[in-house]
Amino acid sequence: MQYAEITGWGKYTPPSVLTNDQLATFIDTSDEWISSRTGIKERRISHINTAEMATLAAKQALARAGLLAEDIDMIVVATCSPDLLVPNTASKVQQLLGSNHAACYDLSAACSGFLYALQSATAQIRMGMANKALVIGAERMSWFMNWSKRDTAVLFGDGAGAVVLEASENKSGLLASKIGCDSSARDILKVSNFGTDMDRYVNPPGPLEIAFQGPDIFKRAVRGMGGATQAVLKAAKLSVDDVDVLVPHQANARIIETLQQHLKVADDKVMVNIDKYGNTSAATIPIALCEAVEQGLIEPGSNIMSAAFGAGLTWAAAYIKWGERTTPLSDYEQQEQDCDKNAMELTRIAREHCLAASASES
Ligand code: ACO
Repeated sequence: MQYAEITGWGKYTPPSVLTNDQLATFIDTSDEWISSRTGIKERRISHINTAEMATLAAKQALARAGLLAEDIDMIVVATCSPDLLVPNTASKVQQLLGSNHAACYDLSAACSGFLYALQSATAQIRMGMANKALVIGAERMSWFMNWSKRDTAVLFGDGAGAVVLEASENKSGLLASKIGCDSSARDILKVSNFGTDMDRYVNPPGPLEIAFQGPDIFKRAVRGMGGATQAVLKAAKLSVDDVDVLVPHQANARIIETLQQHLKVADDKVMVNIDKYGNTSAATIPIALCEAVEQGLIEPGSNIMSAAFGAGLTWAAAYIKWGERTTPLSDYEQQEQDCDKNAMELTRIAREHCLAASASES
């Protein structure tokens, strides 16, 4: 039996930090409200595009796996903020990395995208259709932000995470998973005014921005992730006591706490980094996985449960068995992290535009 072992892990978190206090200088909010309702203290704003972030995370994952870019035969990028609609983001990653033998595709399942992509790539490796794959979650969510809307502007951030999967005899990698979608709620979370749904000429599109009904999503997220996690545990013949680490999607610390209580998982087994990055959509889980390894929370052979929900409303849960190695074979210095602008400077033009549009509406 062939498995798809995770042999490399990497992340790119942009250097420019936007704090809650900085947000409160231009919208009616406070660090107290954001921290207590969401657990977020700050988020990153990227000066580079989604494919470049994905590439930097991938370079680190490749180095840690001890592989060269040309060794890779498949690149999957989970994203809802691609550089372009056509061609896909994965092909740009191939170009930047020089992974000339890799098949490339993007996967659109919003915040559940990374777990959908992990299932897809794992299945292909286990079927013998691929040998070495890069699975990446990368998002430039700041691009969607309407900086005049406090209900959404405080929640999101930019970043990328990546893993390398390799065909292996070791019983490790994604061993059980369940993905699904509750389309009855697909309208409660969306980016409107984009796509062939609109008539470009008769009714020119309004502003492109993310909008959602937070409290409704909150309830559905807890239900969806909790149910999927229980189903995966059952399929894997595991009990909650067998779980060493829980790596949930990072959309709201209160959602994570509710899931944790529902599953009865101890605090010291839960990976939480939403305080530093906010919701980076498809990138939250690979970044959190990477940091869980870096912090020693994930150890050789760890049983990891992960769960996510996102627009669609897509949902996913996964049981991942870590392989034998948590020490990198080599490493990659993120020298391209340098950025000469801070987050307030990076968002200045967008903020001025959004605040002026909001003022003219009222
Ligand atoms: N600062 C200050 N006040 C605010 C802010 C803010 N940033 N945002 C909203 N408020 C106000 C509202 O206007 C409202 O005021 P009112 O009572 O006077 O009307 C009050 O705070 C409460 O608003 P709620 O929406 O009820 O706040 P809630 O406690 O539900 O928290 C939140 C909102 C954080 C969005 C929560 O519902 C949530 O996390 N939902 C699910 C997560 C989610 O939707 N994530 C994004 C989806 S993307 C994805 O992950 C797929």
